[in-house]
Amino acid sequence: MKKLIRDKRGRVLEFSQERVEKLVYFRLEFHRACAAYLNCRTEDEVLLLTDMFVEDRCIVPEPSFWRRLFGHKTLEANFRRQGLGSQLLTTVIAYAKAKKLKRIEGHLAEKDLQPNPQLPRWYQKRGFTVAGSKIFMNLASPPPQPHDDSRYMPKS
Ligand SMILES: CC(C)(COP(=O)(O)OP(=O)(O)OC[C@H]1O[C@@H](n2cnc3c(N)ncnc32)[C@H](O)[C@@H]1OP(=O)(O)O)[C@@H](O)C(=O)NCCC(=O)NCCS
Repeated sequence: MKKLIRDKRGRVLEFSQERVEKLVYFRLEFHRACAAYLNCRTEDEVLLLTDMFVEDRCIVPEPSFWRRLFGHKTLEANFRRQGLGSQLLTTVIAYAKAKKLKRIEGHLAEKDLQPNPQLPRWYQKRGFTVAGSKIFMNLASPPPQPHDDSRYMPKS
């Protein structure tokens, strides 16, 4: 399944999704270069986020014809803070809901937290609960509320 999406700068990226048994890969490509990816795994009724990365130094083909003419074949592109991580996360939440999974879980690694202490906040803003180094989102709909019939009961 492939579709096109835009980042905040208007760059067009190709989205793809692939499932290999319990593993699911979500990927965003810019001129065939991987700009962002999110990998996960399904375990019973839980979707485990195993890895997410938005490239900040992605080598892409030089878009300008004139610069290419003068020998600049590639350039370094930063795809962070362009909404791609958010779009991947939204896609994964929709995927988990469509598969009727009950929960999404992940782990905040020290190697990611150190350069970005805002990471827990980033997940919280996107609907996740942060508990220590764990993040999760419950997807199961709340149990139906017991019907309150007391107002129809004859008053004593
Ligand atoms: C964390 C990460 C996935 C975010 O993806 P992104 O595409 O850059 O984020 P988005 O553009 O969707 O969201 C940007 C928002 O986060 C905020 N933000 C705060 N610190 C940020 C940071 N260091 N990097 C990116 N965004 C940051 C921005 O201000 C922005 O806020 P807004 O939504 O209120 O405007 C990306 O920075 C990344 O790959 N980091 C390295 C690997 C990593 O930490 N992976 C997560 C593993 S759990």
